[in-house]
Amino acid sequence: MLTKKIEQILNKQVEKEGYSSLLYLAMASWAENNGYKGISDWLYAQAEEEKMHMLKFISYINERDGKAVIPGFPKPPSEQKSVAEMFDEVLKHEQYITASINEIVALCIQEKDYTTHNWVQWFVSEQIEEESSVKTILDILKLTGGKNMYQFDRDIMKLRESE
Ligand SMILES: [Fe+2]
Ligand SMILES: [Fe+2]
Repeated sequence: MLTKKIEQILNKQVEKEGYSSLLYLAMASWAENNGYKGISDWLYAQAEEEKMHMLKFISYINERDGKAVIPGFPKPPSEQKSVAEMFDEVLKHEQYITASINEIVALCIQEKDYTTHNWVQWFVSEQIEEESSVKTILDILKLTGGKNMYQFDRDIMKLRESE
């Protein structure tokens, strides 16, 4: 059985992972509209991963006799200033998600829920990867100085494969 506090914080995470998916979907659509095929593929794949994260939280809550609630979501921004600024936003968002996962870990300890504490470690590791892959992208963008976007767009999916 999940305590009320744990059930609540896990449901909040359902919402955050679901919003992450919509945010990246909106970014993917913007990139696609602006001719960045590779970048949009990367973001569509990322949106799919976030949906999987949301599903993981939903099934864990229900498995542990909690009640997962599917929330309504705010509309993600449909415009982006530039590719570099968009990836800055992605990094900020992932850092926000990491902080949120850490809050779950802290609450598990406070509530002595060692089962959820153990389960959520997968997300602790996942966030290390998520942040580092976005940092790699930002480093490459810095190196290109906003030029060679054709090459960057062509190669970005290869960064996913090497993960
Ligand atoms: Fe996620
Ligand atoms: Fe993520």
